[in-house]
Amino acid sequence: MTLHAPFPAGRPRRLRRDSFTRNLVREHALSAHDLIYPVFVQEGLNKRDAVASMPGVERFSLDTLLPVAEECVALGIPVMALFPVIDASLKTPAGDEAFNPDGLIPRVVAALKARFPELGVMTDVALDPYTSHGQDGLLDDTGYVLNDPTVEVLVKQALTQAEAGVDIVAPSDMMDGRIGAVRDALEGNGDIHTRIMAYSAKYASAFYGPFRDAVGSAGNLGKSNKKVYQMDPGNSDEALREVGIDIAEGADMVMVKPGMPYLDIVRRVKDEFRVPTFAYQVSGEYAMLKAAAQNGWLDHDAVMLESLLAFKRAGADGVLTYFARDAARLLKQQR
Ligand code: PBG
Repeated sequence: MTLHAPFPAGRPRRLRRDSFTRNLVREHALSAHDLIYPVFVQEGLNKRDAVASMPGVERFSLDTLLPVAEECVALGIPVMALFPVIDASLKTPAGDEAFNPDGLIPRVVAALKARFPELGVMTDVALDPYTSHGQDGLLDDTGYVLNDPTVEVLVKQALTQAEAGVDIVAPSDMMDGRIGAVRDALEGNGDIHTRIMAYSAKYASAFYGPFRDAVGSAGNLGKSNKKVYQMDPGNSDEALREVGIDIAEGADMVMVKPGMPYLDIVRRVKDEFRVPTFAYQVSGEYAMLKAAAQNGWLDHDAVMLESLLAFKRAGADGVLTYFARDAARLLKQQR
């Protein structure tokens, strides 16, 4: 099949000649509505602690988070995703603080929804910020992460978040069967509205390093890794199996993570399933671009927008990105 007449009848450069033509024929576009903004929250008042490995990212207390949420609404960012920094004294081997109804996340969710009902709020369902060992689940005597007992705790965590009024729960733990278990529990509670965004194809990636610094789980995790539950970076077909299972178990939206090194997976998932598909431009990807920009090696705004547009082109309906606020501000200026 010839897609375009050959030279000289066809001259693809004609359509690149001026910005109006480029605007006219562009296939994909980025908008603030495509962005989910991950934020780190901590206890206390008037706190904004910088995360050294993520320039421009801060850990907010509820009072300093409120103006950020207000700006997200003004910029048209549809959803904020919350990640907790849990005090070391509350961490236990079983991560029980994860389902404390008076814990940090339920309080922040309730406050945000009371103040900004039009802003979507999403929460992570995973135990790693709450466990003393930094793993996403309960361990047996050998240190292996147990599946089914972990799922029971994840269900309690998701229900606690839903009861606090969260819009979207996002299981990021990669235990088998957790989407179905969370969905059944929500339905069992008569909760038909809480959406599930499943971290379906989540790889055991070294690009999560700065995030683990930000939530303070890096020290707990030490030299161990998450390869016995997160996916092997060498696998692609397996991502389709994982996504298929999560959709069958009741996920409304699926996610691929990390983002930029895994755009091939985003494309395969979108082509195969045609469901709302998201990608997470993770902490290490953000750190990489920021570091190069700070050195003057890359043009910050240009690579930020190009990297985000690339997710759309690969088939993502939206992107979780620490650049969300910067990108939305820039998109607004450009209009
Ligand atoms: C927790 C979780 C992680 C991330 C999101 N949720 C870390 C991990 O799995 O170790 C990573 C996000 C990022 O790197 O930006 N389960």
